[in-house]
Amino acid sequence: MQATALINRDFVIGETDRRLFGAFIEHLGRCVYGGIFEPGHPEADARGFRKDVLALVREMAPTIMRYPGGNFVSGYDWEDGVGPVEQRPRRLDLAWMSTEPNTFGTNEFIDWCRAADIEPMLAVNLGTRGPDAARRLLEYCNHPGGTALSDLRREHGWEQPHQVKFWCLGNEMDGPWQMENKTAWQYGRSAAEAAKMMRWIDPGIELAACGSTARNMPTFGEWEAEVLRHAFEHVDYISLHTYLNNYADDTPAFLASPDLMDSFIDEVVAMADAEAARRCSPKRLMLSFDEWNVWYRTRGKREGRTLPGWPVAPPILQEIYTMKDALAFGGACISLLNHADRVRVGCLAQLVNVIAPIMTETSGPCWRQTIFHPFAQWSNWGRGRVLRAAVHSPTYAARYYDPRGPVELHYDIPAAPYLKLAAVHNDADRMLTIFALNRSLDERIDLDLTASGFGGLRLAEATQLRDDDLEAINTKQSPDRISPLRLDGLRVDGEHVLAQLAPASWNVIRLSIAEH
Ligand code: AHR
Repeated sequence: MQATALINRDFVIGETDRRLFGAFIEHLGRCVYGGIFEPGHPEADARGFRKDVLALVREMAPTIMRYPGGNFVSGYDWEDGVGPVEQRPRRLDLAWMSTEPNTFGTNEFIDWCRAADIEPMLAVNLGTRGPDAARRLLEYCNHPGGTALSDLRREHGWEQPHQVKFWCLGNEMDGPWQMENKTAWQYGRSAAEAAKMMRWIDPGIELAACGSTARNMPTFGEWEAEVLRHAFEHVDYISLHTYLNNYADDTPAFLASPDLMDSFIDEVVAMADAEAARRCSPKRLMLSFDEWNVWYRTRGKREGRTLPGWPVAPPILQEIYTMKDALAFGGACISLLNHADRVRVGCLAQLVNVIAPIMTETSGPCWRQTIFHPFAQWSNWGRGRVLRAAVHSPTYAARYYDPRGPVELHYDIPAAPYLKLAAVHNDADRMLTIFALNRSLDERIDLDLTASGFGGLRLAEATQLRDDDLEAINTKQSPDRISPLRLDGLRVDGEHVLAQLAPASWNVIRLSIAEH
C-alpha cells in the first residue's frame, strides 16, 4: 500500500523535554533486589550495583528514574530505608505480598542514579502516611544541614543534599488496590497540603499530582476536576498511566491501541485546561505519563500475580516480550513524541525484570528484551523538535478490549492509520529522525515522505525491527534474536525520501541535514 507523509521544518508540535525519556524502579519482584542491586554478583561494584545492568541502562539512555513505587510507595515508611543497613527493619509489603528487607533505600537509589547519570524522581507516600511524612522526606533529602533531619542524612554518610527536583504526590490514589486509597476530595486536599509544605522547604521542586490511573476508571474526569480544584495552583504536572494489552489476542487491535493513548492525553489536557479556564489562569499544567508499557500476561488479579509465603524479591511480573509487543510499544513511543508540547515527563514501567526491557538472572547474565530496542532508539534519537506530520495512509477499524477496569470495556478505533509516524528534528546534531510503524500484518507500505525547509537530506542510517514470527522473543540463550536490522532500499533525493516498510515493522530512518 502507498502512504505519504509531509513535514515542514517550521511546523513544530513542541521540543521534547529530556524527562520524556524516563523509566521506573519499584520495590517490586526482582526489580531492585536481583535487578539493579545484587551484592555478591560477579559484576557488582562495591555498593552492590550490577555493572552489567548499568551498561545496558546507559545504552537505553533513560533520563529520569521514578522510585520507589508504584503501589509499593503507598505503604512505605521511608525511614526504614535509611541509616545503618543492619539496623533496618524487614517489613511486610502489602502491595506485592512480599517481605521488604530494606537493604536498599533512598540514599542507595540516589547513588545508583548518579552512577547511571540519571535524574532521580521520588514519589511520596500519600496512602498510609501523608503530607507530614512527605515534607520530612524532602527535608532529609534536600535541606543542606543544620536541622535534625538534614543532619541525619549527613550522619548516614551523604554530606551533600540530594537536590531531588521532581516529586510525585502519591501513586494511583483513585484505585481501590492502593493502600489507603482516597476519594478525589481527600486526595486533592492531601496533595495540596503536601505540595504547599514541600515548596516551603524547597521552592525549586516540581510536583506532579495523581490523575486517574486509567481511562477506564469509573471516576475518570470527575477525579481530575476535583483534584485540580484543590491542587491546581500547587502543582506543575498531572499524571496518567497506561498499560497496553492483548488479552483478546487481536493483533490489529493491539497495534492500534497506542491511538487510545493519544485520546487519553488529549482528554487530560482538556481537563487541565478546563480548570485553568475556570480560574481565568494562564497557567498550563503539563502531563507526567509516569507509567506506560505493554503489560497483560502477568497482570491479572492481585492473588494471581503474587506468590505465597511473603517471599523476598519474588519472580513476579516477569513479562516476556514478543516481537508483536515491541510493535505496540513503538506505537506508544510515537504517541508520546507527538504530544511533546504537553507530555513533558514519561516513565517506562519498569526498568529491570518487572515488566521490563532488561532481564537478569540471579548470579548470571542480563539481556535485552524486544522492547529494549524501540526504547533505546527513541530515547537516543527522539530528542529535539517534534514536527507535525501530515500522514496520508489507508486506515482500518479495530475494537480494543480492556477488561482491567471495574467493567469490561471495548473501545472502538474507527480509523487507525496503518502507518503511525513521528518526525524529530535535532538542530544541534543536524539530524532528522523518522520513527515509522507499519501496522499492517501482511502488506508493505511504500512511504513517500517530503520534508520541506531542510534543503538537502542525506541518509545516515536506517533500521527496521521485524520478524516473520510475531511471537519471537529474546532469551538468555538467544539474546539478540530480535534486534534492529539494516533497512535497505531507501532513496533520498533532496527533500524527498522513499522507503519500503515491511509488514508489521518498526522503522527508524536517520537523515542528516546538509548546510543551506
Ligand atoms: O508498574 C506496576 C504497577 O502498576 C505499579 O506499582 C502501579 O502503580 C501500577 O498499577
